[in-house]
This record gives sequence, C-alpha cells and structure tokens, in this order.
Amino acid sequence: MAKDETELLQNAKNVLALNDRGRWTIPHGNLYPHQWLWDSCFIAIGLRHLDVERAELELTSLLRGQWANGMMAHLIFSTHGQRPTQILEEGWTNPNAPSGIKTSGLTQPPMLAEAVWRVGQKLKIPERRSWFNKMLPHVIDFHNWLYAERDAGKGLVILIHPYESGTDNSPPLMQEVHKYAWPWWLTVSEKTHLIKAVSLIRRDIRYVDSNQRMSNAEGAAYFNLSYRLNRQGFDIKSISKKPKFAVEELTFNCIFIRANEILKKIAKTAGVDLPEKLLINMERSRAALEELWHEPSGQYLSRSMISGELIQEPSIACLMPLYAGCITKGRAEKLMKQLKERSQFHTDWPVPSVPQNSSFFNPIKYWQGPSWVNTNWLLIDGLERSGYQDEANQLKQNTLKMVADGDFVDYFNSLTGEPSGAKNFSWTAALTIDLLKT
Ligand code: GLC
Repeated sequence: MAKDETELLQNAKNVLALNDRGRWTIPHGNLYPHQWLWDSCFIAIGLRHLDVERAELELTSLLRGQWANGMMAHLIFSTHGQRPTQILEEGWTNPNAPSGIKTSGLTQPPMLAEAVWRVGQKLKIPERRSWFNKMLPHVIDFHNWLYAERDAGKGLVILIHPYESGTDNSPPLMQEVHKYAWPWWLTVSEKTHLIKAVSLIRRDIRYVDSNQRMSNAEGAAYFNLSYRLNRQGFDIKSISKKPKFAVEELTFNCIFIRANEILKKIAKTAGVDLPEKLLINMERSRAALEELWHEPSGQYLSRSMISGELIQEPSIACLMPLYAGCITKGRAEKLMKQLKERSQFHTDWPVPSVPQNSSFFNPIKYWQGPSWVNTNWLLIDGLERSGYQDEANQLKQNTLKMVADGDFVDYFNSLTGEPSGAKNFSWTAALTIDLLKT
C-alpha cells in the first residue's frame, strides 16, 4: 500500500521504467511482451508528465506499425517472446503490411489523436505545432483508412475481430463469436475433452489464474478467427463476402468520434485544412451513433452486421457515448442513471466492465466484470466534458483509492477492490500518473 501520493507516483514511475524497452513500453513483462496500439497511447498520456520527449517517442514508435494503406496495427511484435501461433495471426499475408517488421493484421481503438493532443499540451507553442505537423498526416491516414475499409456506408466502423475492441471477451463480442464464429471441430474437441490440451500452449494462464481468463474453447475460437483472416490476407473484400465476425462496436466508435473532434483541433493548431471528404465523414459518424440507441432499454448498444440487429448484451461500452461527447443531455442522463444504479454499474469499486445484473457478470473475469483503470479514465474525461464534474471527481478519487495498493495490476475485483490479473501493468501505472497530475 502506497503511504501517500508521492509514493504512489514513484511506484507508478517504477512500473513504466520496468516495462520500458527504449523506444516503446510493453504492457507487461511476461504476459504482453510486444507494443500494443492503445496501450502505448495511454502510456504516452502518463509519460508526458515525466518526460515529454519519451512520450513523443512512444507514439512515433507506433508509426513503425502503420501500413501503407494507413491502418495502424493493433500490435507490433517483438522478435523475442513469440507465441507458437503468432505466424498464423500476423498481417504478412496483406501487401500493405510493412516490411522488416512483424505486425498484427488487426487494428485497435483509435486513441492516437487523443494521445498526440495531450502530449502536445506539454510543449511550447512552436514545438507543439511542429509535433502536430509531424503526426497529423499519420492520424489522417489512419482515420481515412477506417472510413475507406471499415465503414459500410453508415459512418460507423466495423470490427472484424473482438481483439480490435481492446475489450477482448466483452459479453456482446463473445456472444457474436459463439453465434457465428464457432467452428464445428471446436464443438467436437469440447465433447471429446481434447480442448484441454490447449492449456499446454497458452501463455496467459501461466501467469494469471485460469478462472480469470477465457476458456480454452473461447481462446481457440478467437485464434481460429485470426487464422481465417490471415488466410484471407486481411483483405476486406474477401472478408466481407461471408464474415464470421462483423460488429459496429460501441467503445471503438465512441473513441473514433472523439478522436475526430480532437483531430480537428490538432489540424487547427497546426494550421492545416482537413480534407473535405474526411470532414463530411466525421459528421456522418456523429449522426450514425444514434442508430445504436436502443429505446426499450434506454441505452446504446453495439450492432451485429451479420444479423443487422443491436446486440442486447450490456457492457461498459454502453457508457462510452459519454466519452464520445455528442449525445443529447436527455440520453446522457439515462446513462448516468445506469452508472449510479446499484444493480448496474454502481459497485463499491467502480466501474465494472459489465453491469451486475448481466448474466455474464463475474467480478474477476477479465472484461466480464472487473474494473479497469483505462475505461475509468475515459469515463472521467467524458463526465467532465458532459457537465458531470462532481461525478467525475468522485470516480477519480475511487480510481486512485483502487490503485493505492501500488501493484498496478491490469484490473480489480469490482466488488472487493482486490487487485486481480497481472502486476506491474503499464497503462494502470501511466493513467495513475495522469490522474495524479491533472
Ligand atoms: C489484452 C487487452 C487489450 C490490451 C492488450 C495488451 O488483449 O484486452 O485491451 O491492449 O491485452 O495490454
């Protein structure tokens, strides 16, 4: 337990130093030994308070993983620490993948604009302008790619794998995988107990209790989906012919809508005009978010592009329109009610990744119930901008109380506050620094 804020800050700095690989920071030593897209964005947001140049480097290192078509890869593999199946999931089957570096063929929530902006706030005006000018073309290419390849004409981004959401096993996504991406051989291996053998090659359960993670069968279904995409060359035309997973996911789209607004501010400071087509697309996205509103339950939901229906499975994603920042006061009020409701998101150690009244709720199971510091950070920011300053302050205090044990785990038991998952997780440390310093 950290004695005070000074000690907490020092402990957080130690975690970032431990996971520092020179030009980028890995999320965790054993569990996640590569560079991840949204992790590095959160890390840069914390690092900017310690060393702004190192924060810039964290983000420019991510550009190694930008494809020729603009996609930002969800992870850039280190040469060591490879898992046996990695080659079957990498993006090398697509001609746009960069050469000389191994990346995933998927993307992750577009937090880049937010991170670029926040790092820029730590620079004097002339340096800020040149920082923005340097990063702007890359962020524009990324956003243009999302519209070119992942928008089916409605203005919302379609994810092709749950990993792209950053909330891997979140119930709405898991439900879609069970419905449409469950291969027949998996059902057979489950029946014959062959599936138990998967434990032998799983990396995660060597470091974390298996009851906190996906089952072997779920893990195998996720892998199978990645492998299928790899065989299709991550080519959106082939993938969309008969997709096994296609979801307009809320967290991703809310972050995208917010990132578009930030991109406009970056461009303005840099003195650059954004392409007209991009500006039109940005407006389409804001309007399209309202298509995800589900009147009977009074919340926003992700939409399956396979069934064409909203996925009626609540998760923390339902609150993310507060971060998007473009919803009406009336709808924001409805979300606030859920945030404050005991049977939903109001636990003793908020905010759970799944509401308590969901049949999936389990306070220690990864994205199915624990509280995470990154989603709290997004909500704190969203609450502040939506005019809920008291609630934002309260959540900030609760988050700092939760991390005060100083282990900086990836997630916390949302009922008891007990640290769960792996210790020394980078974004928990980085965002703690940001919460302490802002
Ligand atoms: C897990 C998380 C994802 C994160 C990654 C690396 O896959 O679900 O959000 O980016 O680990 O920390």
